[in-house]
Amino acid sequence: MSKRIVVVGSINIDLVYEVPSIVKEGQTIQTTDHHLFFGGKGSNQAMTAAQLGADVAFVGSVGEDGYGQQAIFNLEGQHVDTTYIHQQGLTGQAIIQLSHTAENSILLYPGANFNVTPAQIDEASDVIERSDMLLLQLEIPLPAIERAIDIAYASNTQIFLNPAPSQPLSDDMLMKIDYLTPNCTELESLSGIPFDEDNLSEACEILINKGVGCVIVTLGKKGSYYFTRNGQQGYLSSNKMRPVDTTGAGDAFSGALAVALLNGAELEEAIHYASDVAGYVVTQKGAQPEIPSSYRYLAHQL
Ligand code: RIB
Repeated sequence: MSKRIVVVGSINIDLVYEVPSIVKEGQTIQTTDHHLFFGGKGSNQAMTAAQLGADVAFVGSVGEDGYGQQAIFNLEGQHVDTTYIHQQGLTGQAIIQLSHTAENSILLYPGANFNVTPAQIDEASDVIERSDMLLLQLEIPLPAIERAIDIAYASNTQIFLNPAPSQPLSDDMLMKIDYLTPNCTELESLSGIPFDEDNLSEACEILINKGVGCVIVTLGKKGSYYFTRNGQQGYLSSNKMRPVDTTGAGDAFSGALAVALLNGAELEEAIHYASDVAGYVVTQKGAQPEIPSSYRYLAHQL
């Protein structure tokens, strides 16, 4: 039976402008191409997990506009349960500059994402309670995220947080997290010590001592580093890919890691799998490319 994941988080429309280089303050440059993609860290995680074979439900908010309806249809196209998505105000938008060297910069208009309240989370408490894992990011208000964590914690639903975009988190929240996937900036801000590859274990240990079960630091091209509550730790490299667009790579990594862990993969195997999926995603434009069925978790295992 498919494992059940509930994603609580953001949904955006990504307005992507291809540019020769990221615009600087006071500069005007001409774009070379333009795309409209589905995005939002929560939606990206959900679409990845659903395409890889998980049974996914989504709790979040889109606008009453056309973008909102399209974003819901997009999730439904991968059989994501959208019952718990509210429609109010304007859909969130990300204005993304994508350079010819695959760098990006993102300007975020949260819109309806900021309408998600603890009361909306309470309405979805049943789906959080009966899911195997709660998957989170930080693009909706923290009180709603905290409420979702409390419900999951009380019902033994595993809690997986990608702490992006970076912001301070309480010790009370961190102690309930089973899996945390910071990048370098997020690790620095959460641990309170400057990022340095030589002190990764020290930074992770600070979070483990706060009660996090397992920290997996994403290091971009360099792969990842993990540190668990049992003291297990190590570096894992990733396959060398030629990226065309790294938008959503971290979200795909988290979505895929969640699927592998729920299907019983050992941690290192799960991280390798998540890196492979994220490695494919960066070779495609947009944060939610169609992922070939050969990447589905069970197909990958055969
Ligand atoms: O992580 C990438 C995502 O961040 C984009 O899809 C964009 O919508 C922003 O939320």
